[in-house]
Amino acid sequence: MCGIVGYVGDKQAVGFLLEGLSKLEYRGYDSAGIAVYDGASIRVEKSVGRLASLEEKIEGNMPKGSLGIGHTRWATHGRPSDRNAHPHTDCTGDFVVVHNGIIENYLALKEELIEQGHSFKSETDTEVVAHLLEEVYHGDFEAAVREVLRRVEGSYSLVFMSRQQPDCLICTKKDNPLIIGLGDGENFIASDIPAIIQRTRRTFILNDGEVAVVRKDSIAITNRLGEPVTKKVFEVNWNAEAAEKGGYEHFMLKEINEQPKAVRDTMSQRISKDGNSVLMEELKWTKEYLNSFNKVYIVACGTAYHAGLVGKFYIEKLARIIVEVDVASEFRYRNPIVDENTLLIVVSQSGETSDTLAALKESRRLGAKTLAITNVVGSSIAREADQVLYTWAGPEIAVASTKAYTTQLILFFMLALYMAEIKESQTRERIGQLIGMLKNIPAQISETLSDVEPIKTFARKYGFNEDVFYIGRSLDYDVALEGSLKLKEISYIHAEAYAAGELKHGTLALIVEGVPVIALATQKSVYEKTLSNIKEVKARDAVVIGIAAEGDDELQKYVDHVIKVPETDELLIPLLTVVPLQLLAYYAAITRGCDVDKPRNLAKSVTVE
Ligand code: G6P
Repeated sequence: MCGIVGYVGDKQAVGFLLEGLSKLEYRGYDSAGIAVYDGASIRVEKSVGRLASLEEKIEGNMPKGSLGIGHTRWATHGRPSDRNAHPHTDCTGDFVVVHNGIIENYLALKEELIEQGHSFKSETDTEVVAHLLEEVYHGDFEAAVREVLRRVEGSYSLVFMSRQQPDCLICTKKDNPLIIGLGDGENFIASDIPAIIQRTRRTFILNDGEVAVVRKDSIAITNRLGEPVTKKVFEVNWNAEAAEKGGYEHFMLKEINEQPKAVRDTMSQRISKDGNSVLMEELKWTKEYLNSFNKVYIVACGTAYHAGLVGKFYIEKLARIIVEVDVASEFRYRNPIVDENTLLIVVSQSGETSDTLAALKESRRLGAKTLAITNVVGSSIAREADQVLYTWAGPEIAVASTKAYTTQLILFFMLALYMAEIKESQTRERIGQLIGMLKNIPAQISETLSDVEPIKTFARKYGFNEDVFYIGRSLDYDVALEGSLKLKEISYIHAEAYAAGELKHGTLALIVEGVPVIALATQKSVYEKTLSNIKEVKARDAVVIGIAAEGDDELQKYVDHVIKVPETDELLIPLLTVVPLQLLAYYAAITRGCDVDKPRNLAKSVTVE
């Protein structure tokens, strides 16, 4: 999981390469490197650590030239080091490559290449690609690249550069993202749009197997068979600032605060004019279509999986269809019972998560109908699925996902209402009433966001505790899972979420004096039961922060502090209760001096298993 960039034009390549890589650091940031052709040879510079280390290294002695490639790495094969950083070169230094993905047959290829006399400098899988290119090059760069692609197995986006043909870059992809930005007298290559939008909004999104020869004033794209492909220009409709921090200290805080707008964008075009129906132009499902399914699976990873848990609740409650939820890395290996009567819903902010993509591909192969809920237009998951619902949340850069989660919840809620309407499992009045409350959610999230001072105080007070527990029942439990994930991933505090009723089956043993417990109590049908569980932890002298809806005057009698969120239907309240939990995680991380946007060992987009 890495970020790659390329530049061909008449300006100094290094400017774009460093700028582009800085926008891709969310994809990996354990080492970085660039290669620039200076008119005679290719100069490669790389450095372990953040991009800033590379910048320091080359300051005052920037590589000069207008053809170059760059890479920001998240290690898979070979630990982070200068030597393992990309770009990688062949023995002569004439062929240089950057790669995102995994070359699965690299050991066999490496052995073969060593026998042929090649000597390797790194422990990476990628280096075989450069040596293989050298080996199969017989005067035609593109033909050699194609030969390399015939020999390598695995997943990749790759950009190749050669001193033998220094007027172009060649790039290709399989199961990893790659785009080309179209400039004027210059062209750009990148893993993702934020890297290029300061330069251009006009892009080509490469499909698997396509090979692009990118020159400063032309781009020739061919398919696997070498036949020319005519691409449609994809106009990026985000503005440059949307991919920047917009005045916030961190992307995460910016994205938390963008939630009112993000959820409004996600829902607004999907509500009928009279406000009584959900419109899903993308789906056009019928009763027969819905009745053809005897099983719905929701499959995802991380925060998207937590959104899936809420999605299951919505679909079962409103549409009365049985739903099973699974993490993608488990689902894909457990030989799931999937056939043409299965509806598989995959959820992925990036649309690139490798396990989710693999689960989707496998389910399609088994005959399932597939629907993707994703944020990234044109992503691999969006292209692979039969149907797509986009969250329209705008780019999410912080590793810890926030606005993607709330927009995924919105889509699940609307999808459940849409299904309910088709199946007539809810009355028109109930659907209209729920849509009415849904429309208030953006303003209610804003209201929740405006009350941040008490949360900062809690974070300062409890931010140095080593353990925090989250409890709740029903939908509150699902939100507790997401709250605890947020806390652990960015503040490194050990956090666990428990179904409140399960506490006494083990975890209660860990509740001792002073341990913070965050107790969500918004679900009316289990309210009294949750109160009993809160009393259990209070009896062990835990410090309890309760999360309740406005109008609840009961909870404060039993807890140490209460955070209140506006009143809404209890189905919709996760969209509000998650907000203070996101903020609590954020300010706890700040209290502990953690690097919020780039938590250790984690990356935004997990495109390897
Ligand atoms: C990584 C990210 C998480 C995200 C998960 C799934 O672990 O750090 O924030 O929830 O991947 O990503 P996806 O793009 O598929 O939603």
